[in-house]
Amino acid sequence: MASKHKTAFVGERLDSLEKNDLYRRMRTVVVKGPTAMVDGKETIHLCSNDYLGLSRNRQVIKKAVEALHEVSQCSSRLIAGNHPKIMKLEGLLADHRRTESALVYPTGYSANLGAVTAIAHKNSTIFSDELNHASIIDACRLSGATIQVFRHNDTNHLHELIHQTKGCKIVITEGIFSMDGDTARLQEISTIAKENDAITVVDDAHGDFIFGPGFSGVPAEFKADVDIHISSMSKGLGCFGGYVATAEPVSELLINTSRQFIYTSALPGHLCSAAIAAIPLAKRGNLQKKLYRNIGYFTNAMKKLGFVLGGSSSQIIPVMIGPEKLAVEFSKELLRQGVFVQAIRYPTVRKGSARLRVSLTAMHVQKHLDAAAGAFEKVGRKTGVL
Ligand SMILES: Cc1ncc(COP(=O)(O)O)c(C=O)c1O
Repeated sequence: MASKHKTAFVGERLDSLEKNDLYRRMRTVVVKGPTAMVDGKETIHLCSNDYLGLSRNRQVIKKAVEALHEVSQCSSRLIAGNHPKIMKLEGLLADHRRTESALVYPTGYSANLGAVTAIAHKNSTIFSDELNHASIIDACRLSGATIQVFRHNDTNHLHELIHQTKGCKIVITEGIFSMDGDTARLQEISTIAKENDAITVVDDAHGDFIFGPGFSGVPAEFKADVDIHISSMSKGLGCFGGYVATAEPVSELLINTSRQFIYTSALPGHLCSAAIAAIPLAKRGNLQKKLYRNIGYFTNAMKKLGFVLGGSSSQIIPVMIGPEKLAVEFSKELLRQGVFVQAIRYPTVRKGSARLRVSLTAMHVQKHLDAAAGAFEKVGRKTGVL
């Protein structure tokens, strides 16, 4: 019989999470665009990353289905997985980010791990914004580099730290911060990096296809000099996969040394076809116009009600709550009212800074936003947040 002692820590850890209001449970979600069935209940969906609604676009779906000759090539890129569609997609992504080349990874998470671990090593120092996404934090740790965390978007602090450091230096930040929705001070950050001979890396998962000229992301918006662009295709583009856009030699280094690129199966061809179809649609600008309108409308309504929204400048709008327990209760009550918003807690954000992370899409129309704000008001009064 198996010893109970061997796995006693499992129960202890779960009990501790429960006690601290940090236990996570999955809900079953069937997305229907701006709405979703959540555990069988019809809701307004306010936690989608499909910011432009392209995952449901008929043309995109048609192209993916037409390309569906096999589910996957069941092989890594360097063995037998390098479908011509991936090469075509990489060309389009490089044009989009205005870089010499782009390399597709199976996810944005693996793109972060793959790029950072290939360029950083134990003699490097990485300067990382304190609010960077978990995938960046994991990438930095895995690289074995020395990690210096600078205060969020604080360019004085970055300058202070980088100035005193010798050797290979890398500065890494998000473009739009995933849990706060604010924008990195990229122009200053990239200038400081340049002056200190550091490589600039930007994970633009939430700014890509949403901001900047040609919707090519936050670095282009600020004319920031960025060496390595990392992004996800499962957000603004409404598809799947991740990519790294950079100079040709850096891509070659990744192909040759990035373990998350080499030792994993390639993104299936039909998903590349979907992304190839989605890119020109994302560049037309009509969907962003709707999205920006929704951001302005909802932000105003929530501010008028008295909610504290954090420093968002994007489609990600954190409604600040504070205590973890209250945020979870608020989210559950919103669900009862037919509004689906996730409570974001430690360790994703700092302890005591739990929030409801609203993300808006171009698919929402005024009636969704009015109903959502109405539900927020009702629950805000009931829970004492307002
Ligand atoms: C900033 C950031 N980077 C990377 C990722 C990972 O992207 P993917 O979902 O494609 O793995 C996410 C996903 O939530 C993210 O928010």
